[in-house]
Amino acid sequence: MSSSSAVPVQYERGKEVFMGMQVKVDERVLIPRPETEQLVRIVADICKKKNKKYSKILELGTGSGVIALGLTGLLDNCEIIATDISESALEVARYNLKKFEREDKIKLVLSDMFSSFSQGYDGFFDSIVSNPPYVSKKDYEKLDPWVKAEPRIALFAGEEGMDYLNVIISGGGKLLIPGGFIAVEVGYDQSEKVKNKFIINDFINITSFKDSAGYERVIVGYKNG
Ligand SMILES: C[S@@+](CC[C@H](N)C(=O)[O-])C[C@H]1O[C@@H](n2cnc3c(N)ncnc32)[C@H](O)[C@@H]1O
Repeated sequence: MSSSSAVPVQYERGKEVFMGMQVKVDERVLIPRPETEQLVRIVADICKKKNKKYSKILELGTGSGVIALGLTGLLDNCEIIATDISESALEVARYNLKKFEREDKIKLVLSDMFSSFSQGYDGFFDSIVSNPPYVSKKDYEKLDPWVKAEPRIALFAGEEGMDYLNVIISGGGKLLIPGGFIAVEVGYDQSEKVKNKFIINDFINITSFKDSAGYERVIVGYKNG
């Protein structure tokens, strides 16, 4: 929770629409943004093209659960483990999973990034997806009060905003099947750094996707092999 006095209208109403679904939101979670719908559609398209019987997906930082909900809405055959470090965010996600009857397809796990997956998950997932916190120190200070009313833990990611993106890209390869992929949403000025991070970690076919304003906001990299 935040000490900011500004209250976003979505928190007042207790809801927001994401991919046509009216989900519960409150001060425990980030308000889902329309640009995150692009991340969901990109991941679903790749999974469909791979034409596997079903996809095992790990979502890091699920917040209200919208990415996992969006993916299970678009993909018939997928199983998602959706994580968050915040137990109170997971309570909101749990409510939304129940509302949309997705509890059989999405498992919620309390985890600090990959901490709950250190054993038994090597080469397990087809995909890792995340809209992690990615706001830099300088940008966080400039955010307007309505954005600062959202949980700091959902936004702030260290000096350059790269703290979690670095962990995801350097730690994710181990958990993926060969040819599996990581897809992340990034800040407006982070795509080059993120693409380099994928290269350094031996990912291939690194692809970026622009938002409607022309910024590269989704980056995908495939595990070599
Ligand atoms: C930008 S929000 C994304 C929320 C939601 N997936 C969405 O797209 O609307 C980032 C989420 O990551 C979670 N988070 C922050 N640090 C984390 C960590 N170390 N491990 C796992 N989740 C974390 C936050 O609690 C928050 O829910």
